[in-house]
Amino acid sequence: MSPRRARPVAPVEAIQSVEAIQSVEAIQSVEAEIAPPAKPAIHFQISRRRQGDPKRHFDDFDLEVEPGATVLDALLQIRRRHDPSLVVRHSCMHASCGTCGVRVNGREVLACDTRIAGLPVEKPLRVEPLANQRPVADLATDMVDFYARFDAAGMPFVRASETRAGATPPENIKAFGRFENCIECGLCLSACPIARTSHDFIGPAALAAAARVVEEPRGRDLGPVLALAAEPDSVWRCHDALECTAVCPSAVDPARALLTLRRRVAANGARRFLARR
Ligand code: SF4
Ligand code: FES
Repeated sequence: MSPRRARPVAPVEAIQSVEAIQSVEAIQSVEAEIAPPAKPAIHFQISRRRQGDPKRHFDDFDLEVEPGATVLDALLQIRRRHDPSLVVRHSCMHASCGTCGVRVNGREVLACDTRIAGLPVEKPLRVEPLANQRPVADLATDMVDFYARFDAAGMPFVRASETRAGATPPENIKAFGRFENCIECGLCLSACPIARTSHDFIGPAALAAAARVVEEPRGRDLGPVLALAAEPDSVWRCHDALECTAVCPSAVDPARALLTLRRRVAANGARRFLARR
């Protein structure tokens, strides 16, 4: 049997084929114009440490992230698509609960409130757990110590009803409002250079809480709070690096609170000294 020969293309069909090719090319070029730009791959280096590991290491991941993605989005993407064993802590995803604190390239941030577009992505993004807190696993730290310091400062987490209906708020309510903003995220403790060298330093958030209690005691005995603030590892241990205020995501301004508390502790000390004479 002789091999099948290609049927000669009639001139009209040939013209139609050329038109078909041209229209496919036109469609492809329109598609290329309207297609979203390729997402850049971001290189992440994630601190990893399982419980019991003697030391941590870094795992590398290259991710394409959506425009507007946050660091928390990227971490959850890594967990979903690459490594389900990655330990990341979060809850509200809108900068309210304070549970997603991490360090990105050495700076303390809330992962849920930090857009990747605002970070220097030309270099790897290095994500680590908060410092000055006991690591639990990967990016999670143990906050128990941190909360205990808050308790010691006499700041109750659940407060009595703030203002009765129809009541006129005091004129200086704004000064108090700043301290109420604390979301207990621990970023300030992580950034504090004194906490790095002394585990016993009570820390900026707890001192801001103590300052809040001193400014508005609501009938509480201030003796224990002022005594705590006067201890060697308390207000006088701070060297005014102001890192706490720089990283605070909630405008608490712990450095300013600490200065206020210092004045109260000094005044209290002077009063007690004069009373003994
Ligand atoms: S003072 Fe600011 S940084 Fe510190 S725990 Fe409170 S909200 Fe977080
Ligand atoms: S998840 Fe709640 S503050 Fe980030």
